[in-house]
Amino acid sequence: MSESAPIEHLAGLTSGDLIDAEEPLRLFAAWFEQATRSEPRDPTAMSLATVDTDGLPNVRMVLMKAFGEAGFVFYTNTDSQKGLELDRDRKAALLFHWKSINRQVRLRGPVERIDDAEADAYFATRPRLAQIGAWASKQSAPLESPHAFEKAIALYAAKFAIGTIPRPPNWTGYRLRPLLIEFWQERPFRLHDRLEFRRETLDAPWRKTRLYP
Ligand SMILES: Cc1cc2nc3c(=O)[nH]c(=O)nc-3n(C[C@H](O)[C@H](O)[C@H](O)COP(=O)(O)O)c2cc1C
Repeated sequence: MSESAPIEHLAGLTSGDLIDAEEPLRLFAAWFEQATRSEPRDPTAMSLATVDTDGLPNVRMVLMKAFGEAGFVFYTNTDSQKGLELDRDRKAALLFHWKSINRQVRLRGPVERIDDAEADAYFATRPRLAQIGAWASKQSAPLESPHAFEKAIALYAAKFAIGTIPRPPNWTGYRLRPLLIEFWQERPFRLHDRLEFRRETLDAPWRKTRLYP
């Protein structure tokens, strides 16, 4: 639709699934499924926001490896900048942006480490070189020398030459349990749809509110 289209052309543009949705996880699942079909690259990519000890926000991409009633799971090094910030504050925000369907989903809430058994099971599915990389990378720390990482990889590749590779003690999953999930759908003329679901506690029912764009 061109920028000069008459306003009556906007009637009926509000996304039906947004208006009808009563519960955010089913809506997330539907949008994620659409994004999976239409995104040229990984639809699980999401921004993870934390804050440092000065309250300065910090944001970076991670991959969502599971989602459901229990929350949204991603994996990382617990000694990394994000790991330290997550363990200290135990709360964070996530953001998906699916360009191919002009949508974003924001989530905020408390964060907890997942169970060791769940982290072990996921680690076991990773390619062997990724498992070795998890041992070799002191994620977010300065490299001591130009080839320090390659040397560490060679070291761990030799150490774990045979047999299954255990999960490093400083590598696990974190689960964000949302208290807020906001769905944003682009519409022409920046008359976007925003639908927010909020709950006071993790056991409380979701309250739904539409927001001005
Ligand atoms: C698309 C994409 C996905 C990523 N996924 C992860 C991930 O799942 N886990 C992770 O630790 N880092 C991931 N990274 C790297 C992080 O963005 C970041 O560079 C790294 O984790 C260090 O962040 P930190 O110093 O804030 O801890 C990803 C980067 C990109 C661009």
